[in-house]
Amino acid sequence: MIAPILRSLAELRAKTNEWHRNGETIGVVPTMGALHEGHLSLAQAAKEGCDRVIVTIFVNPKQFNNPEDLTNYPRTEHEDAQKLSRYGVDVIYVPDPQDIYPDGFSTTVSVAGLTDMMEGPFRPGHFEGVATVVAKLFLQTQADRAYFGEKDYQQLLVVRRMARDLNIPIEVIGCPTVREPSGLAMSSRNLLLSPEGLKIAALMNEIMRQLAKDLAAGKDFVTLAQDAKAALLNAGFTEVEYIDLRCAETLESLPRASKPARLFVTAWADGVRLIDNIPVNPA
Ligand code: PAF
Repeated sequence: MIAPILRSLAELRAKTNEWHRNGETIGVVPTMGALHEGHLSLAQAAKEGCDRVIVTIFVNPKQFNNPEDLTNYPRTEHEDAQKLSRYGVDVIYVPDPQDIYPDGFSTTVSVAGLTDMMEGPFRPGHFEGVATVVAKLFLQTQADRAYFGEKDYQQLLVVRRMARDLNIPIEVIGCPTVREPSGLAMSSRNLLLSPEGLKIAALMNEIMRQLAKDLAAGKDFVTLAQDAKAALLNAGFTEVEYIDLRCAETLESLPRASKPARLFVTAWADGVRLIDNIPVNPA
């Protein structure tokens, strides 16, 4: 069954108030649409963990530092609603932009520290945009649990910290990255890749897995990262923005995988910016 699409905060609140009155728990899956298996796995986790599920679809202009990226972002609401029909979602919330950013909107939520590295410097204003819209979506949906993919690992930690710091009573749950059979992490941006670009993109995960294996064996990161960068460029990536090894909890930079860590890579292929990360656990 296709879930009802609600477009106003008033309609959403009527539902969530009723659910809470009945003692039901609410899970939210915030998205920007163009749903793929990764998002659907979050809807499924929400359905398993909560009585009611809301999927939000809002292409948030405040988190795009590049106007072209915002214009090109795929918008597929009808298909998204169809895809969600198999997951028992109760409501799809596609907010009116005026309910998110009313005239005169002047508040920004900014999380220090966790946003200083990786995506932060490469995408100025991005995490402020994410933290602001996600804070609003948490407060608007009044959800008890929120589901985010580990694909955007830094985002997951930023959102969790934001909710904790602001005492928003919601549990932020991270779910594993869903991959294509080639290993490529599912992403709405994959829709922008040509068949040739897809082949190149798939090599990112292969190169990362080899690097993670060497790191887990205790080797130093710096030289391995140089080799991995060369391998990515050789595979057809046009630019490697960063390859980082970081503590899985604090995101502090690590010279070797001395504690549970994550390996992060961001690179361009076929004009598309691709990001991925995988766990590295010391042997
Ligand atoms: O990951 C996303 O799709 C977005 O950053 C999010 C969390 C929906 C906020 O707009």
